[in-house]
Amino acid sequence: MTDPALDAETLRERAVASLITARDRTTLLTSCVDEPELTAQHSPLMSPLVWDLAHIGNQEEQWLLRAVAGHEAIRPEIDGLYDAFEHPRAERPSLPLLPPDEARRYAADVRGRALDVLEAAAFDGTRLTEAGFAFGMIAQHEQQHDETMLITHQLRRGPRALTAPDPEPVPLFTGPSEVLVPGGPFTMGTSDEPWALDNERPAHRREVAPFRIDTTPVTNAAYQAFIADGGYDEPRWWTAEGWAHVRRNAITAPLFWRRDGGQWLRRRFGVTEAVPPDEPVLHVCWYEADAYARWAGRRLPTEAEWEKAARYDPAGDRSARYPWGDAEPTPEHANLGQRHLRPAPAGSYPAGESPLGVRQLIGDVWEWTSSDFLPYPGFRAFPYKEYSEVFFGPGHKVLRGGSFAVDAVACRGTFRNWDLPVRRQIFSGFRTARSEEI
Ligand code: AVJ
Ligand code: FE
Repeated sequence: MTDPALDAETLRERAVASLITARDRTTLLTSCVDEPELTAQHSPLMSPLVWDLAHIGNQEEQWLLRAVAGHEAIRPEIDGLYDAFEHPRAERPSLPLLPPDEARRYAADVRGRALDVLEAAAFDGTRLTEAGFAFGMIAQHEQQHDETMLITHQLRRGPRALTAPDPEPVPLFTGPSEVLVPGGPFTMGTSDEPWALDNERPAHRREVAPFRIDTTPVTNAAYQAFIADGGYDEPRWWTAEGWAHVRRNAITAPLFWRRDGGQWLRRRFGVTEAVPPDEPVLHVCWYEADAYARWAGRRLPTEAEWEKAARYDPAGDRSARYPWGDAEPTPEHANLGQRHLRPAPAGSYPAGESPLGVRQLIGDVWEWTSSDFLPYPGFRAFPYKEYSEVFFGPGHKVLRGGSFAVDAVACRGTFRNWDLPVRRQIFSGFRTARSEEI
């Protein structure tokens, strides 16, 4: 990182604060429903919430207590239960999982010991502890599961369990609909962001041809125009796989949408409401995003284009950590951290725009890109292959920028997310791009 103020003590304080913020969120997400709801499987796509809770504690135990501090396993017999690779999600409810009270006690026990380890840890010993990496990694891991648990809450049937204030209303965005990003090389990825995960590394130069990208994510109103124009009935907008998928599964609108006479309704955290026209579209899969873009005479941006739009500062000819510069996100910059339980209207957060004027790249909705999830040149799996490496390949598409549900600690200009192209229970939207004719 370029900020010299980030010495070991600053990073240590940041690690403590990030772990506490994550645990506060985990506690909220697992205390707002009753015990049977914690152990129930609300969707075959998701784990019971109580699995996430103990898995969070188990990962923390494995990395902070055993790997960093050399402790013995607290409960070696449970490791297998919480290994995501040993048991697919559909199996997890039938495992002898720790009941809610025990899971809470286990996670709290691990946390108490982890804070002691953190207090004593040297931040310059091994790659695992350098700049507090393992602690940052575990705070990010918990926040990623907090997003996963929020998805479970969204899928759950029944009355509302969570509330949050809505984002500030803003006047309808009337700025330019797209922004020109100049061609030329830029620095993609990072080698000096201390808590960047393995797949974001190393920094490398990437050549990008000039292109234009949407100023804001695609809105519900724009997406409704695609539906109204028969977008889901017209094979020419879809890839062969995408067409087969929407036909086979009778998909005719984003997940959680329902048509009621002349209007579209959606279910959001237990409440049914009219689909707000100026909000970024949410809960679309890669196939839908790709088809919409083709219908609009455009295409999805590549991952490199997305990152250049988000980080490239033509004035300094450098890549910043965020669209607005190197400073950590504040509520003025972006809709992050489950502060709101929905995206903010398109055009929000002018303070968070990029030097070229692109808005809402960070927060609000994860943005599908056209790219497969692949390693950068010089990639090295660290500290374990099952975080990124086993997912590389054409089966997974990259999403960028983070949603309203992700915390700032697990979101930055270099952060890479990935998922199957059919996935739409995630907080996914997109923006479109087009090549600049030269
Ligand atoms: C990076 C969001 C795809 O949830 O599958 C959590 C993050 N990895 N535990 C996921 C993760 C291990 C991962 N994603
Ligand atoms: Fe995990």
